[in-house]
Amino acid sequence: MSIRALKQHLELLQNCGISQIYRSADISRASAPPVPTVVSQNKAAQLASLAEAYAACTKCKLHEERIKLVYGDGDPNATVMVIGEGPGEQENIQGRPFVGRAGQLLDKMLLAIHIPREEAYICNIVKCRPPGNRNPEADERSSCMPYLMEQIQIVQPKVFLLLGLVAAQTLLNTKESMTVLREQSLTLFDRPAYVTYHPSALLRNPNWKRPAWEDLQRFQVHYEMLRNAR
Ligand code: URA
Repeated sequence: MSIRALKQHLELLQNCGISQIYRSADISRASAPPVPTVVSQNKAAQLASLAEAYAACTKCKLHEERIKLVYGDGDPNATVMVIGEGPGEQENIQGRPFVGRAGQLLDKMLLAIHIPREEAYICNIVKCRPPGNRNPEADERSSCMPYLMEQIQIVQPKVFLLLGLVAAQTLLNTKESMTVLREQSLTLFDRPAYVTYHPSALLRNPNWKRPAWEDLQRFQVHYEMLRNAR
């Protein structure tokens, strides 16, 4: 891991309220419950087992209105990890990310750049629906972040596609605007990261579809290079 990626990782942990980390010798003495990692299993089994382990999570208040925890979906060996904000109404009911109206648009956006949905791994910053689809709050994002970190560690995507400001600002540890983020060359944990409008935002503001299409085309060039190199 490069120094830059390490710094990014530490800043992300700090933003999640983690102010101390321990060397492995200390971890064995710590009293925190063990993280349920199952390294010997294959990626799909690991992800399924973690999804099951977290299904009844009560780490933040979002569990109060949860029907189903929405862990993630797609190819565990995906080249791209697509990260949204948090489940909506349909996702809460079905337990799968991006299955409502925004999800249908996301499927079309991906297909337009020749990526069938099943070829990507799709997940969110928070795994339970924020009431009324409000933005997830800082404590909710922090509580859920370790789950996303595990997903990244398991899937090991080659590139990230971050949908909307909540995902981008949270993961890139920035307050920059959409306009600035879309135009920058970004990295997340040493891997390229692309930012574009959230499909829900595109449903509300069709004028952003053209710039989103331009983002996707830039992403597609890089994606195809990485996928072919696998
Ligand atoms: N919006 C998101 O950010 N994620 C979903 O899963 C659905 C809608």
